[in-house]
Amino acid sequence: MAILLGKPGSCWVAAARSTNYPQLEGSIRADAVVVGAGIVGLTTALRLCEAGRSVVVVEGLRTGGQVTGRSTAKITTQHALIYRHLIDTVGRELAQVYADANSAGARQIRDWVREYAIACDLESKDAYTYTCDESRRAEVAAEAEAACQVGLEAEILDHAPLPFETAAALRFSDQAQFNPAMYLVGLAEAVTAHGGRIFENSRATSIDEASRWRIVTDGGAVDAGHVVVATNMTVKSPIGMANRTQPRCHTAMAFRIDDPFTVDGMFIGIDDPTHSIRTGHDAEGPLLVTLGPKFNTGWDGDVAKRFVELEKWARKNLSVGDVAWRWCNEDYDTADRIPYAGEPDPAKAAGFHIATGFNAWGITNGTAVGAMIADLICGRPSPWQKLYDPARPYPEDFHKNGRSQSIVSSTHDIAPGMGGVIVRGEEKIAAWRDTEGALQAVSATCTHKGCTVTWNTADHTWDCPCHGSIFAADGSVIHGPARKPLAQITL
Ligand SMILES: Cc1cc2nc3c(=O)[nH]c(=O)nc-3n(C[C@H](O)[C@H](O)[C@H](O)COP(=O)(O)OP(=O)(O)OC[C@H]3O[C@@H](n4cnc5c(N)ncnc54)[C@H](O)[C@@H]3O)c2cc1C
Ligand code: FES
Repeated sequence: MAILLGKPGSCWVAAARSTNYPQLEGSIRADAVVVGAGIVGLTTALRLCEAGRSVVVVEGLRTGGQVTGRSTAKITTQHALIYRHLIDTVGRELAQVYADANSAGARQIRDWVREYAIACDLESKDAYTYTCDESRRAEVAAEAEAACQVGLEAEILDHAPLPFETAAALRFSDQAQFNPAMYLVGLAEAVTAHGGRIFENSRATSIDEASRWRIVTDGGAVDAGHVVVATNMTVKSPIGMANRTQPRCHTAMAFRIDDPFTVDGMFIGIDDPTHSIRTGHDAEGPLLVTLGPKFNTGWDGDVAKRFVELEKWARKNLSVGDVAWRWCNEDYDTADRIPYAGEPDPAKAAGFHIATGFNAWGITNGTAVGAMIADLICGRPSPWQKLYDPARPYPEDFHKNGRSQSIVSSTHDIAPGMGGVIVRGEEKIAAWRDTEGALQAVSATCTHKGCTVTWNTADHTWDCPCHGSIFAADGSVIHGPARKPLAQITL
């Protein structure tokens, strides 16, 4: 078993102030209830508050600690190679809408940071998509041309400004990066300053049509004319979203660096295995943050090995010191690389809004769709509705379920600090041994649709290989679509 260096957790979350909003208790009403205090939920909530609507935000954990707070938080319209693909597949008009929506999302973030004086280390940086492979120069050139067709300024370079050999790069100037967790803490403050109410540690366990929509948590309930399910993967939807998306996970590592300009810019590679690079900092100083290639959540039996590989790659190619932080993060891909957002079934479920499938580009897309949903709730149609239409056709064979990678024959096969799944007839038990050797067990059957979970050897979580639910070792929900914990089992 690999011994992983660095503190477990996101450097952005560690550097952000902790929020302490109360738990939901009793029954309350609002014009709109937003489920999830990530970038989508808080953007929607703030836009609604600014428009004078009464808003309640219900968050299952704490503000900013989930997918947004664990991302690389590049604020850019450069989403690797996307515009050529969009023009070729959905056409020039929708590619233009994608560029417009993401440009507006990027502008909205900068405007709010200024307007609400949000301390989130926002800084302008150029964004680069690079290849180390001579034979891929033409793809980079084609992307530059496609970006220009939709009005984005793009420049081709012979090399990326990186300390290792590259064969071509695409530069979008004057993009930005920030600390996403600090940004969300600031958005939450702006929401409450406008009279919005935020409740934390308040997981929505049911969402039903009552006196319009009713959200129920363990402690209380909210009735509202509109519900916005901004839970990254929908925890409820009038049309199934699980088959339209595929959960993908990445490993992330933050290294100590002496010079905050070790690399100057935000970088995404297009070669296999892909890597992403940016700088940032925590309380102790500057950091270089790298991402490893994506993999299907719960499909890898040894995530720890991926961290070892990422560290090896970073040490070979970049000038980095000690590992400071390490974490996993997941987002959902869609077949056409466009998120799903809006009202999936206005005829049968009017006022029910969702947003998912950000393809790991949800900082600008998430801000755009949050603003769009708020506008729709306020009765203002959006030019982006068709692009993000959650009910658009999708290839039936896009989504794939995986299998647990952690089946062991007995608890004796589980070393301290490790987990394994034991099959006893119909029952599947997820057992975990703590570092002292004591064994704890929960059901290995995911509470979403019953798949068997995989032990994540790095984060020490139970990850579902079907639709990406993530549970803590004790079975509590970290990430949906599951809403209920894994059942407790006494061994
Ligand atoms: C490794 C990685 C790097 C990335 N880097 C970038 C990048 O550089 N630029 C970019 O544009 N995008 C990036 N992304 C994508 C981007 O981070 C996400 O698309 C975006 O943050 C998703 O925001 P969200 O609001 O949907 O999710 P979240 O931030 O996860 O918010 C959802 C919230 O809902 C809560 N919730 C869930 N279920 C319930 C429930 N039942 N009741 C109440 N609350 C609930 C969760 O606790 C969470 O706080 C990256 C993604 C990954 C995986
Ligand atoms: S997330 Fe769907 S079955 Fe586990």
